[in-house]
Amino acid sequence: TPPISPFAIQFDAEAATLTPEGPTLTRRMSALDGLFKDHDAWQQAVADGDPVVYSVQSTPVPEVDRELPQSITSIEAGTTAGEFWMTKGHQHPNHQGEIYLALHGTGGLLMFDGTETQWIDMVPGTIGYIPPGWAHRSVNVGADPYKFLAVYPGGAGHDYGWVLEHGMGKRAYAVTDGFELREF
Ligand code: F6R
Ligand code: ZN
Repeated sequence: TPPISPFAIQFDAEAATLTPEGPTLTRRMSALDGLFKDHDAWQQAVADGDPVVYSVQSTPVPEVDRELPQSITSIEAGTTAGEFWMTKGHQHPNHQGEIYLALHGTGGLLMFDGTETQWIDMVPGTIGYIPPGWAHRSVNVGADPYKFLAVYPGGAGHDYGWVLEHGMGKRAYAVTDGFELREF
């Protein structure tokens, strides 16, 4: 990757966009294999049109060591067998920290260090801090899309297998007055 020159990024918090745009990643239900508690309900959702669950819009800053990439994730509102829609979740293999800034909707930042689970309620203006060594997943617990800005070390990496192996400690389920965390 060639070195990147200084540049300005237009951040529209209201629209939840970053300009100029880098790559956009779209994850449909089929990409979340093995993550929802109810596998049959997940399979049914894949068969029923495989909806987009979330997308991640990056800037042109590359994911390489010593760079500082940013992205905006938008998670659609929905549940699968009562479990709120969420990101896959990952661990940074190099154990580096990250921050999330909530922009729109109502979400949660679920973190797991292999033993302990932590949950941060995310509403516009909340910065959630993810310390090194904590796997992290974002959950949309509202009726609107949940959107947040992420800023993270370019060399952090994304280990998705860690979450498949260890889980995230807890899951967020829809209840009449919001959400409830239940044991994995
Ligand atoms: C980067 C980061 C976020 C997520 C994004 C999608 O380190 O934590 O930008 O990558 O919210 O979630 P995952 O990567 O779990 O599919
Ligand atoms: Zn991360």
